[in-house]
Amino acid sequence: MTDGSYNKDENVIKRLRDEIRRHDKFYYIDNNPKISDEEYDKLFRELTGLEKKHPELITADSPTQRVGGEPIKGFSEVKHKFPMLSLLNTYSEDDIRQWIQRNRKLIMKDVDFVVEPKIDGVGVSLRYEKGKFALGSTRGDGFTGDDISANLKTIRSIPLSLPGGAPEVLEVRGEVYMSKASFEKLNLECSKEGKNLFANPRNAAAGSLKLLDSALTAKRKLNCFVYQSGEIKPPSNIKTHFEMLEYFKELGFRVNPDIRKFGGVEEIVNYLNEFSFKREKLDYEVDGMVIKVNEISLYKTLGSTLKAPRWACAYKFPASRGRARLLSVDVQVGRTGVLTPVANLSPTAIGGVTIKRATLHNFDEIRRLDVRIGDNVWIERRGDVIPKITGVITSKRTGSEKKVLEPVICPVCGSDVLKDEDNVKIICTNTFCPAQLERGIEHFASRKAMDIEGMGEKVVKLLTNKKLVASVADIYILDKQKLLSLPFFKEKKALNLLEGINASRRRTLSKFLCAMGIPLVGEKAAEILATQFGTLENLMKASPDKLAEIENIGMLKASSIARFFRLSSTKKVLTLMKERGVAPLGAKKVKRGKLAGKTFVFTGTIPMPRQEASEIVASLGGETSSSVSAKTDFVVVGEKPGSKSRKAEALGVKIINFEEFQKLVSGDGS
Ligand code: IVH
Repeated sequence: MTDGSYNKDENVIKRLRDEIRRHDKFYYIDNNPKISDEEYDKLFRELTGLEKKHPELITADSPTQRVGGEPIKGFSEVKHKFPMLSLLNTYSEDDIRQWIQRNRKLIMKDVDFVVEPKIDGVGVSLRYEKGKFALGSTRGDGFTGDDISANLKTIRSIPLSLPGGAPEVLEVRGEVYMSKASFEKLNLECSKEGKNLFANPRNAAAGSLKLLDSALTAKRKLNCFVYQSGEIKPPSNIKTHFEMLEYFKELGFRVNPDIRKFGGVEEIVNYLNEFSFKREKLDYEVDGMVIKVNEISLYKTLGSTLKAPRWACAYKFPASRGRARLLSVDVQVGRTGVLTPVANLSPTAIGGVTIKRATLHNFDEIRRLDVRIGDNVWIERRGDVIPKITGVITSKRTGSEKKVLEPVICPVCGSDVLKDEDNVKIICTNTFCPAQLERGIEHFASRKAMDIEGMGEKVVKLLTNKKLVASVADIYILDKQKLLSLPFFKEKKALNLLEGINASRRRTLSKFLCAMGIPLVGEKAAEILATQFGTLENLMKASPDKLAEIENIGMLKASSIARFFRLSSTKKVLTLMKERGVAPLGAKKVKRGKLAGKTFVFTGTIPMPRQEASEIVASLGGETSSSVSAKTDFVVVGEKPGSKSRKAEALGVKIINFEEFQKLVSGDGS
């Protein structure tokens, strides 16, 4: 090849890249495409062809690098240079008025505020070095996140390179989300393939960002709005947040078009109310608004608590309300045998989502509401929570409505039912009730638990109906032959499910504990237990007293956990699973952090939820306990401390106040 044709190809490659980037901006950022999809694909194909011919000319920021690369084994950890804080939540107009007034008092002058939609997605940090996309990470615990660069690169609205003149280092923070339309489409595909459905667009976005195969993420159609700066080197001389957002736009980032700047409280409150209607029409979920002080120099003056800045706060929208007719009531039998009434409703659109079912919690609730079949009812839906019936429109009654009858036998197995001690829950007495087994397996395979790809509700039903699975341990002796005996199962589907089952053999300990369905132990408690004990063996050895000492576990959970591990049925299932190759990964215990080996006890009212304070301690390698002993290193006293601070004094344990605690944990954390 002559030099001339090489140079020519190189120039064409450059031109094509610029051209594609320009059209990416028109399409993904400005929402205003200038060419047809076919014309765009033609440019893309031309570029791919030339890059194939000259692989040495491929650059990391070429648009062709967005289709995803080879699958990876796991994500490496990223320590955030500036912590990724969360936001103070408020729920009423009055809260917002007070928050603004307090800030004005502190600042002692009238200031502007920027009001932004609060996108219900996944917070990410995007780092650019010398104008090139260098690192993208999740928020994680705010201090340390995961490196998800490969997945973020597949999102077209995230630029891979910035125009000339961009700072040496630029970190921007934003929200990755999935549009309502893409979410519905994804769930439709999942249900066709018998996979578990995602509960809401946020979970779908989070799941897509944590896929180990970025080529799959590329297909998930994620999008991103940026809304905040992180590290900028050399420091920028931009004075206001609003101008910073303008600057982000100039650099090619996507900034939400509904962000406004206001001077007065009334204007802000009006905009919040106006937007609570507008959001229903948007193609993405907005769960509130964020109000930020505009002048950046005031961030320092106002400062931050450990969890959230004082210069910003979130206003969460009230639940959306709608009306529907109650058509019938189904009775579902849960994993623990509890019978739950579920309402079938006339389809009603609330917050841009069609609702056909709502929970009625229990039969006491039905009596309390006096809700009858045929009634017109109020339904409320807040974010990702299951919609619920909150009242009856009695003026619409015709007299033909029918009372909902309490079941006297289990609707699935016909066994007797009994009421629990509180006389509220109705429970099926048959521990072998097929519904309990089915729900138990569904829970075990669900995303928050063992996350078995391909084992959604339909597949679980088939497996239990055909008696292929009589306990969760049986999942691990399924083979191709057994699966091919099921209706709708062909070679590919069977192999995919076996692959999903195999992958679940090495889930984290916290997912495994959540999957086991220990009474009273959900996702959060499972996580706490996993970090405290590191391995299943350690946890199984723990006495109820030791368990009860753990912050946020308490006596009730502690005895439930101990009881669960004493059951011979538990022991049998655990042994079988171990024999069948299920080996949960020990939790990573942060040993190196600056609080490694230190134990904290909190007492009295502290200005943040205890759970959050414990998370901060854990993120720095320390532990939290709920009782003071000679082994305690620090007792942190809040307002109205209890007997723990007296005990600490008696034992000579160091006592510090919350401010001292904040000082201790802030800084670079190394
Ligand atoms: S600012 C230090 N602005 O909401 C302030 N956050 O509940 C950092 N979020 O972790 C956040 N839209 O993931 C900010 N316009 C917006 C936002 C936003 C969504 C998310 C973000 C944050 C969470 C807090």
